[in-house]
Amino acid sequence: MLMASPDTNPSAAVKLDSVLDAMVEAMIVIDNQGNIKQVNKSAIGMFGFSRPELLGSNISMLMSGADKARHGDYLDRYEQTRRKRIIGVGREVVGARKDGSTFPIHIAVGEVQMGDTVQYVGLIRDLTEQRQAEEASLKQREEMVNVSRLSTMGEMAAAMAHELNQPLTAIANFAAASQRLLETNPDDNLAAVLEALTDIQDQAHRAGEVIRRTRAFTHGDTEKSTTTVATIFSQIASLARMDSKANNIRLDTDIPSDLPEVDVDPVQIQQVMLNLMRNAVDAMRNTPPEQREISICAKRTAPHEIRFEVRDHGAGIKPEDAESVFNAFFTTKSSGMGMGLAICRTIVRNHGGELRFRYNDSRNPGAGMTFFFTLPTKVKA
Ligand SMILES: Nc1ncnc2c1ncn2[C@@H]1O[C@H](COP(=O)(O)OP(=O)(O)O)[C@@H](O)[C@H]1O
Ligand SMILES: [Mg+2]
Repeated sequence: MLMASPDTNPSAAVKLDSVLDAMVEAMIVIDNQGNIKQVNKSAIGMFGFSRPELLGSNISMLMSGADKARHGDYLDRYEQTRRKRIIGVGREVVGARKDGSTFPIHIAVGEVQMGDTVQYVGLIRDLTEQRQAEEASLKQREEMVNVSRLSTMGEMAAAMAHELNQPLTAIANFAAASQRLLETNPDDNLAAVLEALTDIQDQAHRAGEVIRRTRAFTHGDTEKSTTTVATIFSQIASLARMDSKANNIRLDTDIPSDLPEVDVDPVQIQQVMLNLMRNAVDAMRNTPPEQREISICAKRTAPHEIRFEVRDHGAGIKPEDAESVFNAFFTTKSSGMGMGLAICRTIVRNHGGELRFRYNDSRNPGAGMTFFFTLPTKVKA
């Protein structure tokens, strides 16, 4: 048995050490108390402790926070119950270097019987780079969705108003100047007035361009691909979870991955999902904590139709407002733009579906809302 050799045969121990030192992965052998019996070069490099500092010390010195305290328990429990926890499976814990800095590590532990005693061999992987890559891609994704969410959520309307304001102000100024010129000295100022009229035309075209761009955004100009609702949602799931967590809301999702495929522009559908969620969050501002829950589900509702639902326990829609909520600029919020549902409905309709709502309890408008949209499933060619 390879691992048993160091204690019994010195020359084999030297050989084994050099083999272990050549390993890229960090390796640490501990006894059943967690005391370090052996380390390789990679482990020394990873944690910054010297070999003498490590040998005989407890493995907990290489861990941080909760994991530090817990590790001994794991060993104890394993000794008592022989139930596999990290043993043989692997766990992610927070590692601690000699200089006090911490970093994510994956540790896989195998058990080695050595005569009467048991030792554990831990293989340790530094997860720092992997984590950074994961975080970077998540962040990029979130920024992208965030940008599109903001633009949908009325920021677009605000931007459009802002952009339109400039040419309209310019038009008004040119017109007023022309008027003054014509009133005072028409003959001498004819050239200047003609010039102003040209400027007015240019500005009117600019305003038209702003509107055209906005229309292109809300109507079509889509980048469709064949995908599933589960995939689409998975890309905003962390955002949705963060949003609900920040607002102290439980998020319950039931989105089967085996629903039929759809042919959609994923980013636009994500905007719709996020808008509906945002509204649900807003609607629960005054909901008692124990009722704060958003349930999101997707299901097949007809042979060629799937439905995505967002159910909240918020204040609901006043019956007299029910007709208006999809109208552009209709809002009951002090800082709302009232563009969300209007744009969502346009997006869903452009995809051949429908966006609607129902009261959770038809006799009690205050029992919260369920907003849902349908999408036709991909027709097989
Ligand atoms: N889940 C919901 N619960 C209660 N009211 C809602 C919900 N979703 C939308 N509404 C109502 O519809 C209005 C319009 O929504 P929306 O078009 O997204 O604009 P905004 O969110 O900017 O107000 C909201 O102001 C609100 O009164
Ligand atoms: Mg909204």
